[in-house]
Amino acid sequence: MIQENYTPGHSLNASQFMAKRRASSHAAFFLPYLKPGMKTLDCGCGPGTITVGLAEAVAPAPAIGVDFAVSQVALARTAAEQCGIGNVQFKVGNAYNLPFDEGEFDAIFSQSGEAARLGEEDTARIGAMARVLRAWSEHPDALFAQAWLAAVGWRE
Ligand SMILES: C[S@@+](CC[C@H](N)C(=O)[O-])C[C@H]1O[C@@H](n2cnc3c(N)ncnc32)[C@H](O)[C@@H]1O
Repeated sequence: MIQENYTPGHSLNASQFMAKRRASSHAAFFLPYLKPGMKTLDCGCGPGTITVGLAEAVAPAPAIGVDFAVSQVALARTAAEQCGIGNVQFKVGNAYNLPFDEGEFDAIFSQSGEAARLGEEDTARIGAMARVLRAWSEHPDALFAQAWLAAVGWRE
């Protein structure tokens, strides 16, 4: 598996900066594609404030945020509790080796500023997301569209 450093780090300042983000502002391009019942992954969710908004859009299906930083997952769980959103979950995991089954998700969002470059790592991440996206096995064209949306999110 590819190993890399997360350059911005997870300081209080950095986390508070990320926590100001909302789905309505930072996933506005993605929200029109979501419908109630679509199980959704937020890959590299950080403090989870965007994930909470995705969960509202897909309820009663779950939105699951995954991040490799234990500190971010802890912040995200606190944010979800404070919002009282019942269909959001958070899990520690690496984007290159997602801890989910093949085809488990109907939609995937990923916005991770440090990944804003083209290269081998992008391909590996999109491939890992493709594995857990249901559209991969059913509609390769839909996968392409959704993988592209994820890539757009990365290039914030
Ligand atoms: C710039 S923050 C964005 C957080 C959130 N998506 C947002 O837009 O507010 C990037 C997040 O991606 C996480 N991250 C970076 N590389 C990762 C990887 N390989 N696997 C899982 N999480 C990763 C970092 O820990 C960080 O919380």
